[in-house]
Amino acid sequence: MVVYFRDPKGLRKFPNMSPLSGISNIPFMMLAHSGARSTQLVELHKKHPVIRTGPNTLSYGDARAIKDIYGHNTKCTKDTSYVITAGSHYHLADVIDKQDHSRKRKVLSAAYALKNLELWEHKVADKTTKLIRHFDQCCTAPLPAGSKIVPKDELTVDFRAWTNFFTLDAIADIGLSEPLGFLDQGNDHIVCKRPDGSEYECELRPALYQNARKQSLLVWPYQWYKLIDKVSNVIPFYGRMGQRAREWDGIPVELASRRWKRYQAGEKLDDFFQALMENKNGQAHALEWGEIVAEVSIMMNAGSVTTAIAMANVLLQLLKNPSVMAKLRAELDHAIDDDDEDPVVSYDTVKHLPYLRACLDESLRLFPPTPHNLPREVPSEGLSIMDDYISGGVSVGMSALVAHRNEAIFPQADKYVPERWLGEEGKNLQPYFLAFSAGARGCIGRNISYLEQTVLLASILRRYEFALPSPDWEIERLETMNWILGEMPVKVWRRQLSKLEP
Ligand code: HEM
Repeated sequence: MVVYFRDPKGLRKFPNMSPLSGISNIPFMMLAHSGARSTQLVELHKKHPVIRTGPNTLSYGDARAIKDIYGHNTKCTKDTSYVITAGSHYHLADVIDKQDHSRKRKVLSAAYALKNLELWEHKVADKTTKLIRHFDQCCTAPLPAGSKIVPKDELTVDFRAWTNFFTLDAIADIGLSEPLGFLDQGNDHIVCKRPDGSEYECELRPALYQNARKQSLLVWPYQWYKLIDKVSNVIPFYGRMGQRAREWDGIPVELASRRWKRYQAGEKLDDFFQALMENKNGQAHALEWGEIVAEVSIMMNAGSVTTAIAMANVLLQLLKNPSVMAKLRAELDHAIDDDDEDPVVSYDTVKHLPYLRACLDESLRLFPPTPHNLPREVPSEGLSIMDDYISGGVSVGMSALVAHRNEAIFPQADKYVPERWLGEEGKNLQPYFLAFSAGARGCIGRNISYLEQTVLLASILRRYEFALPSPDWEIERLETMNWILGEMPVKVWRRQLSKLEP
């Protein structure tokens, strides 16, 4: 209360998210428990461009703040939340120190570079073939014209789960040459080792998701987080999440160890791990083991969760907007050679299709997989944000969802309108597209994500028809650090294209 009234950082001039936000992070923790932080912030920012969401935290809703907070020349750094959730070593996404970040980014950018996409394409094609093999087995009879409700036993695919098996298998192969085999198994069971050498089996997705969920619920009072994280385990609701989080801890260690053994045995493999070990001239980077494990961890996490969400979202939007689906199919059918027997469409065929890209970007706009306010700390000397001085040490952030639902920039912001991304007008919107964040800390994996999204989506839309349980069916959404989706049961059947008939 004393600090609130002394107001050394001059934050009392900003409207509070809740009457208690100026003195406590509890209101924001409560908001986090609703599983819809960013959705709520969209509503609040309709009235206020800047909102105080905690004693030391500001949320921005005005697009002019994007450059100041995230732009290439910003003096802001990632804030303490990244430090307190980090493991023993930082990885590319949670390292704060600018020099250390540049060093890491340089090591990895060789692997993530656009020109390397051809290297990874066969790995993505292989996973697409496996997914198609499964979907072929799940095909049902066509939905009779006029039928709107699909009987339960005809909903043979959980599209959400399969896109996640796809991205996990893909990134394990691209990153570690590891055959995870989730698309073959039809589940995400993985066997790992504890530090004492004993084995345990777990499901990868719940382990990964519950870890992030617990953090997203409890992290907000930064100075208390470590304690709250431990103590909360006595409450079964959090205890179960804590147990899953411990299961996750063993997974990157196990995957890094498997790949390390192959490296030690002299195998030269085309993957990220190789780039982590040596530069192009064969000089060793000599990273510590903890850093290698941390990089494997973020690779498996950031490299799978978001793209899987994006792919489920885009199919959902297309099924809910049949005229958009028809237009996209027309573009794809025109571009894809009818005589091509391979059900997997090549990246070269689809990478420049404007409407396909517009459909993907519009879905990322409407439902950004990472809508979270990505918090940044104002440098000690303070900073001007939207021509307003903000004191050093304050955490500031802007949710991609808030940016994307701004009617002044994206008219009909709640509607799925891919056309807005076409031509010059579409280019002009790019500075307000925050799905991959922006600036020096923007996503390093976006090219890989587009490779996976374009190849998979083009291939399955060419081959199959899909139907949701009913036209007004809605998916469950839960905001943790990402915007996690519930199941997406769909009916699938082969498209009636003469060349596609077996
Ligand atoms: C639709 C897919 C994706 C979305 C929406 C997405 C979104 C983001 C966002 C918002 C950030 C900034 C995070 C922050 O500031 O804390 C980020 C960073 C990052 N992403 Fe992605 N991402 C996607 C795909 C990928 C893929 C496929 C990979 C890996 C293959 C990847 C790896 C990373 C890494 C390593 C960072 C940290 C970069 C740095 O700080 O230098 N992402 N991503």
